[in-house]
Amino acid sequence: MIRKAEIWDIPRIHELGSLLNDNFSEVNSLNEMLEDGFSKIYVYEMDDKVVGFISATDLKETCDILSVVVDEEYRNRLIATNLIDYLFSELDENCKIITLEVDTLNKAALHLYDKFGFKVVNVRKHYYANGDDAYLMARESE
Ligand SMILES: CC(C)(COP(=O)(O)OP(=O)(O)OC[C@H]1O[C@@H](n2cnc3c(N)ncnc32)[C@H](O)[C@@H]1OP(=O)(O)O)[C@@H](O)C(=O)NCCC(=O)NCCS
Repeated sequence: MIRKAEIWDIPRIHELGSLLNDNFSEVNSLNEMLEDGFSKIYVYEMDDKVVGFISATDLKETCDILSVVVDEEYRNRLIATNLIDYLFSELDENCKIITLEVDTLNKAALHLYDKFGFKVVNVRKHYYANGDDAYLMARESE
């Protein structure tokens, strides 16, 4: 089941976010995001627990996906695919472009975004703290 994140989900989202980035809890103000009116956070529940989430900044005509993370034990069950589908279904009908940054070495994520029609539009050199480059990817609505 996918639902909007609530304040009590924050510790679990931080836990999952740390799988993506050691500094996840420092760079993501989830409390503020739940209140700001333009951030979207959805969680995926299975076996009575949150096993994945997606977060995005939705500015109506543009949307930026910030993070998609699935618990290691629950990967390859289309949970990330379902979370992205759900986010898309919640976006404004006037949304023209969806963007995201992804580590150029992150094969699983690149496969996922390619499946959704995202294209590489730029490379951000040494974007991540560990020195890895990022692709800026975009998906324009038809
Ligand atoms: C990337 C991530 C979110 C994918 O989650 P998931 O729930 O396993 O993804 P799905 O099950 O929806 O799989 C989507 C597709 O990716 C493929 N895939 C999954 N892992 C893969 C891997 N290691 N290498 C290549 N393809 C992979 C799946 O086979 C599937 O493709 P298909 O539909 O053509 O068969 C998950 O691996 C994760 O949480 N990684 C750590 C955090 C991260 O890197 N997030 C992305 C950047 S924000």
